[in-house]
Amino acid sequence: MGWTKSDWRAKPRVQMPDYTDAAALEAAEAKLRRYPPLVFAGEARTLRFELAACARGEAFLLQGGDCAESFDQFSADGIRDTFKVMLQMAMVLTFGAKVPVVKVGRMAGQFAKPRSAPTETVDGVELPSYRGDIINDLPFTPEARIPQPSKMLEAYTQAAATLNLLRAFSKGGFADVHQVHSWTLGFTEGPRAAQYRDMASRIQDTLDFMTAAGLTADNNAELSTVDFYTSHESLLLEYEEALTRQDSLTGNWLAGSGHMIWIGDRTRQPDGAHVEFASGVLNPIGLKCGPTTTAEDLKVLMSKLNPENDAGRLTLIARFGAGKVGEHLPRLIETVKAEGANVVWSCDPMHGNTIKSATGYKTRPFHAVLQEVREFFATHREMGTIPGGVHFEMTGADVTECTGGVRAVTEEDLSDRYHTACDPRLNASQSLELAFLVAEELQGLREERQRAAS
Ligand code: PEP
Ligand code: CO
Repeated sequence: MGWTKSDWRAKPRVQMPDYTDAAALEAAEAKLRRYPPLVFAGEARTLRFELAACARGEAFLLQGGDCAESFDQFSADGIRDTFKVMLQMAMVLTFGAKVPVVKVGRMAGQFAKPRSAPTETVDGVELPSYRGDIINDLPFTPEARIPQPSKMLEAYTQAAATLNLLRAFSKGGFADVHQVHSWTLGFTEGPRAAQYRDMASRIQDTLDFMTAAGLTADNNAELSTVDFYTSHESLLLEYEEALTRQDSLTGNWLAGSGHMIWIGDRTRQPDGAHVEFASGVLNPIGLKCGPTTTAEDLKVLMSKLNPENDAGRLTLIARFGAGKVGEHLPRLIETVKAEGANVVWSCDPMHGNTIKSATGYKTRPFHAVLQEVREFFATHREMGTIPGGVHFEMTGADVTECTGGVRAVTEEDLSDRYHTACDPRLNASQSLELAFLVAEELQGLREERQRAAS
């Protein structure tokens, strides 16, 4: 009957390392089992309530952050900058959608990466692939690529420090709505700048009105603090299991590694280890849906991951690629409708749009990212369903990893500031531009609904 946090061990597993040093693995797991959880059950439950509102169209999910967090690039400034851009994006989205935006970082735990091949060959030398800093190291040497269990402890420490700073930023005055708006005012270049300035000035008017009416950050916590949640792909199950705790209030199990966890496109086998683990924890769960997700699999996955059909428990993260949404999303929406399932539909316009540039870099054209977002909204509009959120790989840093955007990054620019250890991220300016466009889509949708209702 009862689920246990170790049940996944009896299931087929993919994309996980084969640790060779069993004693070192057990030592690391034993330490993690004694460490405090990073998040608490009440927080995960609150996030489920907020996601349930996203499923109903009464809130909107903004999930974003690094493809892979890195030990080397860990810094307070990096965390601050990504947090800042997410708050700016959230403000723009709130203004467009006129509903609360639920902010979830790909942060404080996003360390383990699924790979397209188990090994990598360079100049005739074949080595195991790099799988993220929680597992092995990036340099192309045999030593670096050996999976080291002790890296789980370093990841835990970095996640704890990251979350500590995020909690301080969220509640300590840094997130004041006036300040967030002032950061955005600098965003005034490029072909669509006039449109963005117009929205920015309407936000300014609203803030001025609120101040005049006596609503200030000093007397109103909603204006000076935010709720910010963490999430990551639940890939390295030894780490996840060791941080799983029983909630003393309900007896249910919590993945203590982050508020929300998701299952990747490569690890969503209905009878596999990753689905088994996620099925038993109380956290909100994300499920990546790609071109190979069949209606039958989705049906089974929904019944395993959300047997009680609780809105807010399951977020389906669609990632098909620009030009392919119309081919795949409708059949999955039909399945969800046929099952009467409550889900949040979120759009990941990153993972189906990765290409290799002529200059040899893995990149994503900004126009393809935008196009997929538009197709996602258009399909939901046609089918009368609710686009509940977006999922981006982005950073507050001024990197050159994705091409395009208002401050156009060219293929030749990619080598300038290409810092990601894994997939290319949107930089701060591209992220904000995308937020403006999503806000326009949400505004259009809202106006359509108002017209229909009147
Ligand atoms: C990711 O989100 O970093 C990722 C690997 O996505 P997917 O599983 O959708 O390919
Ligand atoms: Co990625």
